[in-house]
Amino acid sequence: MRVVVNVGGSVLAPDLEPDRVADYAAAIETLDGAGHTVGVVVGGGPTAREYITTARELGANEIALDQLGIAVTRLNGRLLIAALDDRAVPTPAESYETGREAVRRGDIPVLGGIVAAQTTDAVAAAFAEYVGADLLVYATSVNGVYDTDPNSDAEATCFDRLTARELVSVIADMEMNAGSSAPVDLLAAKVIERSGVRTIVLDGTDPQRVVDAVRNDAFDGTEIVPER
Ligand code: UTP
Repeated sequence: MRVVVNVGGSVLAPDLEPDRVADYAAAIETLDGAGHTVGVVVGGGPTAREYITTARELGANEIALDQLGIAVTRLNGRLLIAALDDRAVPTPAESYETGREAVRRGDIPVLGGIVAAQTTDAVAAAFAEYVGADLLVYATSVNGVYDTDPNSDAEATCFDRLTARELVSVIADMEMNAGSSAPVDLLAAKVIERSGVRTIVLDGTDPQRVVDAVRNDAFDGTEIVPER
């Protein structure tokens, strides 16, 4: 199976604890060793937010902040690459094309951000579309897509299954509410809808959950299914 795994920065590197990164690398290698073709997209997490907050106070404009964010996602990508063995391409892919070439060779590409004004959620969706992935997995810090923000609403319910069109509508509603954060953003949801790639959103704090989802289709999270 061809799979793209998005590892949120707050899942991979909430701090610079080496064991977490090593565990993620081991999970990716397990999938690769089991015969799956794997591409990885890494987020910026708290480090990106710290840089962006400081640079904003220094007067940087939003595009410059995005460039800073992209640089941090690529730093996190290098961290994961450091833990992966020779199966990984030694530098983060800076374009979808470079990433796809690696997939074609059978190597493991690691991508961070690509262009300003989006997030790595959208990068993962676009990369999955570009390489014709069978499955896209979002390893996030929440265990699925909720109808409202579970951080502020104790009544929030997690969806087991959504069509891609329903996902777009749920995320659009959430993004209308200032301060609420969805595990997958609207641009990513729209790319998922357009591409029809089967997608799973799960709690990735334990990387074994990603392995179980890909290898055994066993997961506790939200499955986004293409329209029929
Ligand atoms: P993230 O993808 O990590 O943002 O990119 P996020 O979704 O807010 O954070 P986590 O990791 O899921 O917690 C960090 C920042 O980098 C810039 C954006 O400013 C984003 O907020 N970025 C990232 C881009 O401008 N383009 C990209 O393609 C990716």
